Amino acid sequence: MISPAHHLAASPLAWRFARAAALGVLCVAFCTVKVHAATPQSDSTLQVLHWWTSASERKAASLLAARMADEGITWRDAGIPGGAGIGAGKVLKSRVLANDAPEVTQIIGVSIREWADLGFLLELDKVAAANKWNTSFFPTIQNLIQHRKHVVAAPLGIHRINTLFYNKKIFSTLKLSPPENWDELVTVAARLKAAGLIPLAQSSEPWQVATLFENLILAEGGPEYHRELFVKQNAQAVMDKRFAHALERLRQMKGWMNNPVDERPWTEVVKQFSKNEAAMMITGDWVKGELNDGGFVTDEAFSCTAMPGTGKYHLYSVDTFSMFTNDYSRIAAQEKLARLVATPAVQADYNAVKGSVSVRRDADPARMDSCARASWNAFAQGAATQAPSLVHRMATDETSKDAIIAVIHRYFIDATVSPADTQARLVAMYKTFGNNKKQNL
Ligand code: BGC
Repeated sequence: MISPAHHLAASPLAWRFARAAALGVLCVAFCTVKVHAATPQSDSTLQVLHWWTSASERKAASLLAARMADEGITWRDAGIPGGAGIGAGKVLKSRVLANDAPEVTQIIGVSIREWADLGFLLELDKVAAANKWNTSFFPTIQNLIQHRKHVVAAPLGIHRINTLFYNKKIFSTLKLSPPENWDELVTVAARLKAAGLIPLAQSSEPWQVATLFENLILAEGGPEYHRELFVKQNAQAVMDKRFAHALERLRQMKGWMNNPVDERPWTEVVKQFSKNEAAMMITGDWVKGELNDGGFVTDEAFSCTAMPGTGKYHLYSVDTFSMFTNDYSRIAAQEKLARLVATPAVQADYNAVKGSVSVRRDADPARMDSCARASWNAFAQGAATQAPSLVHRMATDETSKDAIIAVIHRYFIDATVSPADTQARLVAMYKTFGNNKKQNL
Protein backbone atom coordinates (compact mmCIF):
# COMPACT_ATOMS: atom_id res chain seq x y z
CA MET A 1 0.00 0.00 0.00
CA ILE A 2 1.17 3.50 -0.78
CA SER A 3 1.27 5.76 2.23
CA PRO A 4 -0.49 9.11 2.16
CA ALA A 5 2.86 10.81 2.67
CA HIS A 6 4.23 9.15 -0.44
CA HIS A 7 1.35 10.40 -2.51
CA LEU A 8 1.67 13.91 -1.23
CA ALA A 9 5.33 13.94 -2.10
CA ALA A 10 4.65 12.48 -5.53
CA SER A 11 2.10 15.15 -6.45
CA PRO A 12 3.75 18.23 -7.98
CA LEU A 13 3.65 21.13 -5.60
CA ALA A 14 2.30 23.38 -8.29
CA TRP A 15 -0.88 21.30 -8.53
CA ARG A 16 -1.35 21.42 -4.78
CA PHE A 17 -1.22 25.21 -5.00
CA ALA A 18 -3.49 25.28 -8.03
CA ARG A 19 -6.00 23.14 -6.20
CA ALA A 20 -5.89 25.24 -3.06
CA ALA A 21 -6.18 28.40 -5.12
CA ALA A 22 -9.09 27.02 -7.14
CA LEU A 23 -10.98 26.03 -4.02
CA GLY A 24 -10.17 29.37 -2.48
CA VAL A 25 -11.46 31.36 -5.46
CA LEU A 26 -14.60 29.27 -5.73
CA CYS A 27 -15.22 29.46 -2.02
CA VAL A 28 -14.98 33.23 -1.86
CA ALA A 29 -17.98 33.22 -4.14
CA PHE A 30 -20.13 30.44 -2.76
CA CYS A 31 -19.12 28.48 0.24
CA THR A 32 -20.11 27.77 3.70
CA VAL A 33 -17.30 25.29 3.74
CA LYS A 34 -15.96 22.66 6.02
CA VAL A 35 -12.37 23.75 5.44
CA HIS A 36 -10.95 20.43 6.54
CA ALA A 37 -12.61 17.06 6.40
CA ALA A 38 -13.31 15.48 9.76
CA THR A 39 -10.70 13.24 11.38
CA PRO A 40 -9.17 11.07 8.67
CA GLN A 41 -10.62 7.59 8.75
CA SER A 42 -9.11 4.59 7.12
CA ASP A 43 -11.99 2.71 5.74
CA SER A 44 -12.96 0.31 3.00
CA THR A 45 -16.21 2.07 2.21
CA LEU A 46 -16.20 4.08 -1.00
CA GLN A 47 -18.92 6.43 -2.04
CA VAL A 48 -19.40 6.20 -5.80
CA LEU A 49 -21.00 9.09 -7.68
CA HIS A 50 -22.32 8.22 -11.15
CA TRP A 51 -25.27 8.72 -13.49
CA TRP A 52 -26.32 5.13 -13.99
CA THR A 53 -29.91 5.20 -12.84
CA SER A 54 -31.84 3.21 -15.49
CA ALA A 55 -32.65 -0.46 -14.79
CA SER A 56 -29.75 -1.88 -16.82
CA GLU A 57 -27.31 0.79 -15.63
CA ARG A 58 -28.21 -0.06 -12.04
CA LYS A 59 -27.69 -3.72 -12.79
CA ALA A 60 -24.22 -2.97 -14.19
CA ALA A 61 -23.37 -0.84 -11.14
CA SER A 62 -24.64 -3.58 -8.80
CA LEU A 63 -22.42 -6.08 -10.56
CA LEU A 64 -19.41 -3.86 -9.84
CA ALA A 65 -20.55 -3.38 -6.24
CA ALA A 66 -20.84 -7.16 -5.77
CA ARG A 67 -17.32 -7.77 -7.12
CA MET A 68 -16.02 -5.10 -4.78
CA ALA A 69 -17.83 -6.68 -1.87
CA ASP A 70 -16.02 -9.96 -2.65
CA GLU A 71 -12.80 -8.03 -2.03
CA GLY A 72 -14.03 -6.44 1.18
CA ILE A 73 -14.98 -3.06 -0.22
CA THR A 74 -18.38 -1.49 0.40
CA TRP A 75 -19.88 0.55 -2.45
CA ARG A 76 -21.97 3.46 -1.13
CA ASP A 77 -24.13 4.41 -4.03
CA ALA A 78 -24.63 8.01 -5.13
CA GLY A 79 -26.47 7.67 -8.43
CA ILE A 80 -27.66 11.00 -9.86
CA PRO A 81 -30.42 10.85 -12.50
CA GLY A 82 -29.95 12.60 -15.82
CA GLY A 83 -28.82 11.03 -19.10
CA ALA A 84 -25.28 11.82 -20.27
CA GLY A 85 -24.40 12.94 -16.75
CA ILE A 86 -25.99 16.38 -16.99
CA GLY A 87 -27.12 16.25 -13.34
CA ALA A 88 -24.13 14.32 -12.02
CA GLY A 89 -21.65 16.90 -13.30
CA LYS A 90 -23.42 19.68 -11.40
CA VAL A 91 -23.76 17.67 -8.20
CA LEU A 92 -20.08 16.79 -8.33
CA LYS A 93 -19.08 20.45 -8.63
CA SER A 94 -21.19 21.54 -5.69
CA ARG A 95 -19.98 18.67 -3.54
CA VAL A 96 -16.36 19.49 -4.25
CA LEU A 97 -17.07 23.12 -3.35
CA ALA A 98 -18.50 21.93 -0.04
CA ASN A 99 -15.35 19.88 0.56
CA ASP A 100 -17.44 16.73 0.33
CA ALA A 101 -16.09 14.99 -2.75
CA PRO A 102 -17.04 11.32 -3.18
CA GLU A 103 -14.13 8.88 -3.16
CA VAL A 104 -14.97 7.56 -6.61
CA THR A 105 -16.66 9.41 -9.47
CA GLN A 106 -17.72 8.71 -13.00
CA ILE A 107 -15.75 11.46 -14.71
CA ILE A 108 -15.26 10.96 -18.41
CA GLY A 109 -13.27 12.30 -21.35
CA VAL A 110 -12.00 15.87 -21.23
CA SER A 111 -13.52 16.33 -17.74
CA ILE A 112 -10.80 14.02 -16.41
CA ARG A 113 -8.20 16.59 -17.49
CA GLU A 114 -10.23 19.44 -16.01
CA TRP A 115 -10.38 17.83 -12.56
CA ALA A 116 -6.80 16.53 -12.73
CA ASP A 117 -5.56 20.02 -13.58
CA LEU A 118 -6.95 21.20 -10.26
CA GLY A 119 -4.96 18.50 -8.48
CA PHE A 120 -7.94 16.64 -7.04
CA LEU A 121 -7.43 13.21 -8.55
CA LEU A 122 -5.54 10.24 -7.18
CA GLU A 123 -2.67 9.04 -9.33
CA LEU A 124 -3.07 5.39 -10.21
CA ASP A 125 0.38 4.83 -11.74
CA LYS A 126 1.26 1.90 -9.47
CA VAL A 127 -1.97 0.05 -10.23
CA ALA A 128 -1.45 0.73 -13.93
CA ALA A 129 2.15 -0.53 -13.91
CA ALA A 130 1.43 -3.62 -11.80
CA ASN A 131 -1.42 -4.63 -14.09
CA LYS A 132 0.29 -3.75 -17.38
CA TRP A 133 -2.41 -1.31 -18.40
CA ASN A 134 -0.13 0.21 -21.04
CA THR A 135 -0.18 -2.96 -23.11
CA SER A 136 -3.63 -4.25 -22.15
CA PHE A 137 -5.79 -1.32 -23.23
CA PHE A 138 -6.39 0.20 -26.66
CA PRO A 139 -4.09 3.21 -27.21
CA THR A 140 -7.03 5.65 -27.22
CA ILE A 141 -8.01 4.41 -23.76
CA GLN A 142 -4.41 4.86 -22.58
CA ASN A 143 -4.47 8.49 -23.71
CA LEU A 144 -7.84 9.17 -22.15
CA ILE A 145 -6.89 8.01 -18.67
CA GLN A 146 -3.61 9.90 -18.49
CA HIS A 147 -2.85 13.46 -17.58
CA ARG A 148 0.67 14.91 -17.57
CA LYS A 149 2.06 11.38 -17.79
CA HIS A 150 0.10 10.15 -14.75
CA VAL A 151 -2.77 7.70 -14.86
CA VAL A 152 -5.72 9.38 -13.17
CA ALA A 153 -8.69 7.20 -14.16
CA ALA A 154 -9.68 3.55 -14.42
CA PRO A 155 -11.59 2.55 -17.56
CA LEU A 156 -14.85 0.62 -17.58
CA GLY A 157 -16.21 0.34 -21.11
CA ILE A 158 -16.53 1.83 -24.58
CA HIS A 159 -19.94 2.89 -25.91
CA ARG A 160 -20.56 3.26 -29.63
CA ILE A 161 -22.74 6.28 -30.34
CA ASN A 162 -23.13 5.73 -34.09
CA THR A 163 -25.46 2.79 -33.71
CA LEU A 164 -28.77 2.32 -35.49
CA PHE A 165 -31.12 -0.08 -33.74
CA TYR A 166 -33.94 -1.58 -35.78
CA ASN A 167 -36.95 -3.66 -34.88
CA LYS A 168 -36.55 -7.06 -36.53
CA LYS A 169 -40.22 -7.97 -36.63
CA ILE A 170 -41.27 -4.71 -38.27
CA PHE A 171 -38.39 -4.86 -40.75
CA SER A 172 -39.14 -8.45 -41.75
CA THR A 173 -42.92 -7.87 -42.03
CA LEU A 174 -42.30 -4.94 -44.35
CA LYS A 175 -39.41 -6.74 -46.10
CA LEU A 176 -36.97 -3.94 -45.27
CA SER A 177 -33.20 -4.30 -45.11
CA PRO A 178 -31.12 -2.34 -42.59
CA PRO A 179 -30.09 0.90 -44.36
CA GLU A 180 -26.39 1.38 -45.12
CA ASN A 181 -26.43 4.87 -46.59
CA TRP A 182 -28.54 8.02 -46.46
CA ASP A 183 -30.66 7.22 -49.51
CA GLU A 184 -31.54 3.81 -48.13
CA LEU A 185 -32.41 5.37 -44.79
CA VAL A 186 -34.76 7.84 -46.51
CA THR A 187 -36.46 4.99 -48.40
CA VAL A 188 -36.84 2.87 -45.25
CA ALA A 189 -38.30 5.82 -43.33
CA ALA A 190 -40.80 6.51 -46.12
CA ARG A 191 -41.90 2.87 -46.20
CA LEU A 192 -42.35 2.81 -42.43
CA LYS A 193 -44.37 6.02 -42.52
CA ALA A 194 -46.55 4.69 -45.31
CA ALA A 195 -47.25 1.65 -43.13
CA GLY A 196 -48.49 4.01 -40.39
CA LEU A 197 -45.44 3.55 -38.14
CA ILE A 198 -43.14 6.04 -36.45
CA PRO A 199 -39.79 5.46 -38.21
CA LEU A 200 -37.54 6.91 -35.50
CA ALA A 201 -37.87 7.01 -31.70
CA GLN A 202 -36.26 10.26 -30.51
CA SER A 203 -36.45 12.80 -27.70
CA SER A 204 -36.02 16.56 -28.01
CA GLU A 205 -33.85 16.66 -24.89
CA PRO A 206 -30.84 18.79 -25.95
CA TRP A 207 -28.17 16.13 -25.45
CA GLN A 208 -30.22 13.54 -27.32
CA VAL A 209 -30.76 15.87 -30.27
CA ALA A 210 -27.05 16.71 -30.38
CA THR A 211 -26.21 13.00 -30.24
CA LEU A 212 -28.21 12.49 -33.43
CA PHE A 213 -26.61 15.56 -35.01
CA GLU A 214 -23.06 14.41 -34.35
CA ASN A 215 -23.98 11.15 -36.07
CA LEU A 216 -25.02 13.17 -39.12
CA ILE A 217 -21.73 15.08 -39.02
CA LEU A 218 -19.78 11.84 -38.90
CA ALA A 219 -21.76 10.54 -41.87
CA GLU A 220 -21.05 13.77 -43.80
CA GLY A 221 -17.36 14.16 -43.20
CA GLY A 222 -15.93 11.20 -41.27
CA PRO A 223 -13.82 11.42 -38.09
CA GLU A 224 -11.47 14.08 -39.45
CA TYR A 225 -14.25 16.58 -40.11
CA HIS A 226 -15.92 15.70 -36.80
CA ARG A 227 -12.65 16.57 -35.00
CA GLU A 228 -12.20 19.83 -36.96
CA LEU A 229 -15.62 20.89 -35.75
CA PHE A 230 -15.76 19.72 -32.18
CA VAL A 231 -12.17 19.22 -30.99
CA LYS A 232 -10.37 21.99 -32.92
CA GLN A 233 -13.50 24.15 -33.15
CA ASN A 234 -12.49 25.47 -36.50
CA ALA A 235 -14.88 28.25 -37.59
CA GLN A 236 -14.20 27.51 -41.26
CA ALA A 237 -15.39 23.95 -40.77
CA VAL A 238 -18.70 25.35 -39.48
CA MET A 239 -19.14 27.37 -42.69
CA ASP A 240 -18.48 24.25 -44.78
CA LYS A 241 -21.48 23.09 -46.80
CA ARG A 242 -21.32 19.71 -45.06
CA PHE A 243 -22.42 21.41 -41.85
CA ALA A 244 -25.46 23.00 -43.51
CA HIS A 245 -26.24 19.69 -45.13
CA ALA A 246 -26.19 17.84 -41.81
CA LEU A 247 -28.55 20.47 -40.37
CA GLU A 248 -30.95 20.05 -43.27
CA ARG A 249 -30.95 16.31 -42.75
CA LEU A 250 -31.61 16.76 -39.05
CA ARG A 251 -34.73 18.75 -39.95
CA GLN A 252 -35.77 16.14 -42.48
CA MET A 253 -35.45 13.44 -39.82
CA LYS A 254 -37.76 15.39 -37.54
CA GLY A 255 -40.54 14.31 -39.88
CA TRP A 256 -39.82 10.70 -38.97
CA MET A 257 -40.33 11.22 -35.24
CA ASN A 258 -43.32 11.72 -32.90
CA ASN A 259 -45.10 14.97 -33.65
CA PRO A 260 -44.39 16.97 -31.55
CA VAL A 261 -41.07 15.48 -30.52
CA ASP A 262 -41.43 15.56 -26.77
CA GLU A 263 -38.60 16.09 -24.33
CA ARG A 264 -38.29 12.81 -22.47
CA PRO A 265 -35.53 10.76 -20.85
CA TRP A 266 -33.73 8.25 -23.06
CA THR A 267 -35.34 5.36 -21.16
CA GLU A 268 -38.75 6.51 -22.46
CA VAL A 269 -37.41 6.52 -26.00
CA VAL A 270 -36.27 2.94 -25.47
CA LYS A 271 -39.74 2.02 -24.20
CA GLN A 272 -41.39 3.37 -27.33
CA PHE A 273 -39.00 1.26 -29.43
CA SER A 274 -39.45 -1.91 -27.37
CA LYS A 275 -43.23 -1.60 -27.48
CA ASN A 276 -42.89 -1.84 -31.28
CA GLU A 277 -44.28 1.70 -31.55
CA ALA A 278 -41.25 3.03 -33.43
CA ALA A 279 -39.03 1.04 -35.78
CA MET A 280 -35.55 2.57 -35.32
CA MET A 281 -33.35 4.45 -32.84
CA ILE A 282 -29.99 6.12 -33.53
CA THR A 283 -27.98 6.53 -30.35
CA GLY A 284 -25.39 5.03 -28.00
CA ASP A 285 -25.46 1.33 -27.19
CA TRP A 286 -26.35 1.83 -23.52
CA VAL A 287 -29.87 1.43 -24.93
CA LYS A 288 -28.95 -2.14 -25.82
CA GLY A 289 -28.35 -2.89 -22.13
CA GLU A 290 -31.79 -1.49 -21.39
CA LEU A 291 -33.48 -3.44 -24.18
CA ASN A 292 -31.87 -6.69 -23.08
CA ASP A 293 -32.80 -6.04 -19.48
CA GLY A 294 -36.43 -5.62 -20.55
CA GLY A 295 -36.35 -9.01 -22.33
CA PHE A 296 -35.87 -7.53 -25.83
CA VAL A 297 -33.16 -9.86 -27.08
CA THR A 298 -30.35 -8.87 -29.47
CA ASP A 299 -30.76 -10.41 -32.93
CA GLU A 300 -34.21 -11.75 -32.03
CA ALA A 301 -36.32 -8.69 -31.28
CA PHE A 302 -33.89 -6.12 -32.66
CA SER A 303 -30.46 -5.81 -34.26
CA CYS A 304 -27.90 -3.09 -34.73
CA THR A 305 -26.05 -1.66 -37.65
CA ALA A 306 -23.89 1.45 -37.87
CA MET A 307 -25.53 4.83 -38.49
CA PRO A 308 -25.83 4.84 -42.32
CA GLY A 309 -22.66 6.21 -43.87
CA THR A 310 -20.52 5.54 -40.77
CA GLY A 311 -19.96 1.78 -41.04
CA LYS A 312 -16.18 1.95 -40.66
CA TYR A 313 -16.22 4.58 -37.92
CA HIS A 314 -16.56 4.46 -34.18
CA LEU A 315 -18.06 7.49 -32.44
CA TYR A 316 -17.11 6.71 -28.88
CA SER A 317 -17.85 7.53 -25.27
CA VAL A 318 -15.59 5.80 -22.76
CA ASP A 319 -16.78 5.37 -19.18
CA THR A 320 -14.11 5.89 -16.54
CA PHE A 321 -13.85 6.23 -12.77
CA SER A 322 -11.57 8.78 -11.16
CA MET A 323 -10.76 8.89 -7.46
CA PHE A 324 -10.73 12.02 -5.33
CA THR A 325 -7.78 12.03 -2.97
CA ASN A 326 -9.69 13.80 -0.15
CA ASP A 327 -7.82 13.07 3.09
CA TYR A 328 -5.91 10.14 1.54
CA SER A 329 -7.48 7.66 3.96
CA ARG A 330 -9.11 5.42 1.33
CA ILE A 331 -6.23 4.90 -1.05
CA ALA A 332 -6.01 1.13 -0.54
CA ALA A 333 -9.68 0.63 -1.33
CA GLN A 334 -9.57 3.10 -4.23
CA GLU A 335 -6.60 1.29 -5.78
CA LYS A 336 -8.31 -2.06 -5.33
CA LEU A 337 -11.39 -0.80 -7.12
CA ALA A 338 -9.31 0.64 -9.97
CA ARG A 339 -7.51 -2.68 -10.42
CA LEU A 340 -10.69 -4.72 -10.22
CA VAL A 341 -12.79 -2.89 -12.81
CA ALA A 342 -10.14 -3.32 -15.48
CA THR A 343 -9.60 -7.07 -15.02
CA PRO A 344 -10.62 -9.28 -17.98
CA ALA A 345 -13.37 -11.01 -15.98
CA VAL A 346 -15.06 -7.86 -14.68
CA GLN A 347 -14.68 -6.19 -18.08
CA ALA A 348 -16.46 -9.07 -19.82
CA ASP A 349 -19.31 -9.35 -17.31
CA TYR A 350 -19.89 -5.65 -16.71
CA ASN A 351 -19.88 -4.67 -20.39
CA ALA A 352 -22.29 -7.47 -21.32
CA VAL A 353 -24.86 -5.92 -18.96
CA LYS A 354 -24.06 -2.28 -19.72
CA GLY A 355 -24.20 -2.54 -23.53
CA SER A 356 -20.64 -1.23 -23.96
CA VAL A 357 -17.50 -3.17 -24.89
CA SER A 358 -14.25 -3.98 -23.15
CA VAL A 359 -11.40 -1.47 -23.15
CA ARG A 360 -8.98 -4.40 -23.36
CA ARG A 361 -7.25 -5.57 -26.52
CA ASP A 362 -7.25 -9.15 -25.22
CA ALA A 363 -11.06 -9.30 -24.79
CA ASP A 364 -12.78 -12.33 -26.29
CA PRO A 365 -15.16 -11.31 -29.12
CA ALA A 366 -16.74 -14.78 -28.95
CA ARG A 367 -18.32 -13.74 -25.66
CA MET A 368 -19.95 -10.67 -27.23
CA ASP A 369 -23.26 -10.36 -29.07
CA SER A 370 -23.24 -9.17 -32.68
CA CYS A 371 -23.66 -5.45 -31.79
CA ALA A 372 -20.82 -5.56 -29.27
CA ARG A 373 -18.56 -7.50 -31.62
CA ALA A 374 -19.08 -4.95 -34.40
CA SER A 375 -18.33 -2.12 -31.98
CA TRP A 376 -15.22 -3.75 -30.51
CA ASN A 377 -13.85 -4.64 -33.95
CA ALA A 378 -14.48 -1.13 -35.27
CA PHE A 379 -12.78 0.45 -32.26
CA ALA A 380 -9.80 -1.91 -32.64
CA GLN A 381 -9.04 -0.37 -36.06
CA GLY A 382 -7.40 2.58 -34.28
CA ALA A 383 -7.54 6.35 -34.01
CA ALA A 384 -7.96 7.14 -37.72
CA THR A 385 -11.47 5.69 -37.76
CA GLN A 386 -12.44 6.77 -34.24
CA ALA A 387 -14.29 9.99 -33.42
CA PRO A 388 -14.53 11.35 -29.85
CA SER A 389 -18.13 12.16 -28.98
CA LEU A 390 -18.96 15.82 -28.45
CA VAL A 391 -22.03 15.16 -26.31
CA HIS A 392 -20.28 12.62 -24.12
CA ARG A 393 -17.36 14.90 -23.21
CA MET A 394 -14.72 13.15 -25.33
CA ALA A 395 -14.08 16.14 -27.63
CA THR A 396 -14.09 19.34 -25.61
CA ASP A 397 -14.59 20.96 -22.22
CA GLU A 398 -17.94 21.11 -20.43
CA THR A 399 -18.68 24.78 -21.18
CA SER A 400 -18.02 24.55 -24.93
CA LYS A 401 -19.93 21.28 -25.16
CA ASP A 402 -23.01 22.74 -23.47
CA ALA A 403 -22.91 25.87 -25.61
CA ILE A 404 -22.63 23.90 -28.88
CA ILE A 405 -25.46 21.58 -27.83
CA ALA A 406 -27.68 24.60 -27.08
CA VAL A 407 -27.14 26.01 -30.60
CA ILE A 408 -28.03 22.69 -32.26
CA HIS A 409 -31.04 22.23 -30.00
CA ARG A 410 -32.37 25.69 -30.79
CA TYR A 411 -32.20 24.92 -34.50
CA PHE A 412 -33.97 21.61 -33.94
CA ILE A 413 -36.92 22.95 -31.97
CA ASP A 414 -37.48 26.23 -33.82
CA ALA A 415 -38.36 25.86 -37.50
CA THR A 416 -37.77 29.59 -38.09
CA VAL A 417 -34.05 29.21 -37.36
CA SER A 418 -32.20 28.47 -40.61
CA PRO A 419 -29.01 26.46 -41.13
CA ALA A 420 -27.26 29.75 -42.01
CA ASP A 421 -28.40 31.37 -38.70
CA THR A 422 -27.12 28.34 -36.86
CA GLN A 423 -23.77 28.43 -38.63
CA ALA A 424 -23.40 32.15 -37.88
CA ARG A 425 -24.19 31.58 -34.20
CA LEU A 426 -21.66 28.81 -33.90
CA VAL A 427 -18.95 30.74 -35.72
CA ALA A 428 -19.43 33.68 -33.35
CA MET A 429 -19.23 31.31 -30.43
CA TYR A 430 -16.06 29.60 -31.70
CA LYS A 431 -14.43 33.01 -32.09
CA THR A 432 -15.24 33.83 -28.46
CA PHE A 433 -13.95 30.44 -27.28
CA GLY A 434 -10.73 31.06 -29.25
CA ASN A 435 -10.26 34.50 -27.71
CA ASN A 436 -10.90 33.15 -24.22
CA LYS A 437 -8.39 30.39 -24.76
CA LYS A 438 -5.77 32.92 -25.94
CA GLN A 439 -6.43 35.15 -22.93
CA ASN A 440 -6.01 32.21 -20.58
CA LEU A 441 -2.61 31.25 -21.98
C1 BGC B 1 -22.35 7.26 -20.56
C2 BGC B 1 -23.15 5.96 -20.41
C3 BGC B 1 -24.58 6.25 -19.99
C4 BGC B 1 -25.20 7.25 -20.94
C5 BGC B 1 -26.65 7.58 -20.64
C6 BGC B 1 -23.11 8.27 -21.40
O1 BGC B 1 -22.47 9.51 -21.31
O2 BGC B 1 -21.11 7.00 -21.18
O3 BGC B 1 -22.55 5.12 -19.48
O4 BGC B 1 -25.29 5.05 -19.95
O5 BGC B 1 -24.45 8.44 -20.93
O6 BGC B 1 -26.79 8.30 -19.47
